Amino acid sequence: MQIAIDGPASAGKSTIAKLIAKELNFIYSDTGAMYRAVTLMAKLNNVKYNDEENILLLMDKFKISFKNSVEGQRVFINDQDVSEEIRTVEITNNVSEVSALPIVRERLVEEQRRIAQEGDVVMDGRDIGTTVLPNAEVKIFMIASVHERAVRRFKEYESKGIDVSLETLEKEIEDRDYKDSHRKISPLKKAKDAIELDTTGLSIDQVVQKVIDIIKK
Ligand code: DC
Repeated sequence: MQIAIDGPASAGKSTIAKLIAKELNFIYSDTGAMYRAVTLMAKLNNVKYNDEENILLLMDKFKISFKNSVEGQRVFINDQDVSEEIRTVEITNNVSEVSALPIVRERLVEEQRRIAQEGDVVMDGRDIGTTVLPNAEVKIFMIASVHERAVRRFKEYESKGIDVSLETLEKEIEDRDYKDSHRKISPLKKAKDAIELDTTGLSIDQVVQKVIDIIKK
């Protein structure tokens, strides 16, 4: 079984997808983490974020993998744990540029389809229902207001000791929404057969319950 959860940044996709995967004992696949890892590879190797040719060489050289641990799923570039580094402000603000590169998408979509072959999966991203797994049995398009998404990100940064204003975060979220939904290849878009779920004002438990109800139906 394939469950695709798409939607804009900070709509709650990965939090919910992880909990659903745990509840159903499915594989959880965080596709945003893959685009983030490629962005980090570029940064660490002083390759420009729009330099497709050299980014491709880095993707040949370095392998992205996931391992489950007591702290949840960890992301690796070769044998280096980069789970925290891929969530810094710099990577967050540049990942849209890297994820718009056609060859990067082609490679990662291939890898995501391979992961989905390994068993029942909950996969979250931007183009899972439209491109990666168009035949997924359940497709959810998760949204929330810009303000609520900025507040969620503000709390996340606050807990990490990162000081950013709410207004800056709202602007960054709007900017990333625009870039993600206006790129040429598989832009962020609700699949025709996806169910829209607005998580504004809902608790995590309430959203999980709604998703479980959708899956059961
Ligand atoms: O879900 P996230 O914020 O970790 O995703 C990071 C970026 O990666 C997001 O701004 C757009 C890109 N992305 C994508 O283009 N396609 C996906 N399937 C997942 C993420």
